[in-house]
Amino acid sequence: MAEADLSRRQFLNVMVNAVGAGITAILAVPLAGYFLDPAMRKAGGAKNWVKLGAASELTDMPKVYNFQTMRTEGFMKQQVNAAAYAFMDGDKPRAISNTCTHLGCPAGWNADKSEFHCPCHGGVYDKTGKNIGGPPPRPLPAFNAKIENGDIYIEV
Ligand code: FES
Repeated sequence: MAEADLSRRQFLNVMVNAVGAGITAILAVPLAGYFLDPAMRKAGGAKNWVKLGAASELTDMPKVYNFQTMRTEGFMKQQVNAAAYAFMDGDKPRAISNTCTHLGCPAGWNADKSEFHCPCHGGVYDKTGKNIGGPPPRPLPAFNAKIENGDIYIEV
């Protein structure tokens, strides 16, 4: 009888330890990813230079370029379509995002008024992306831009 009780106790100990080890393993993988992910990323947030096109196409007026980039949200990483407006500011290339800083709609360049207009709630930006009307709280985000080997690149 004592032998059977001991076996039952041993069995329960093994089962409790096994369940505990399983729960620990299930929790350890996402926790390890959470803590190690920042260390595994490239310094500076894993930015890349994306070629938009020939620099000879640039004028002092914004020109739209469409490109694809990787976007990370939580653990999801996916390729998304994006747009940038590029122009020459004197001898320097400049590029800005068309993502409205109000609620994220795509703003478009209105050449007749020399302004960016957001179709969603009437946000208005000047040529440099500065918010000058409507609800947007901030300027359009700027990209780092450079010309290399005759092409314009932006950092995304
Ligand atoms: Fe652009 Fe609201 S999303 S003005």
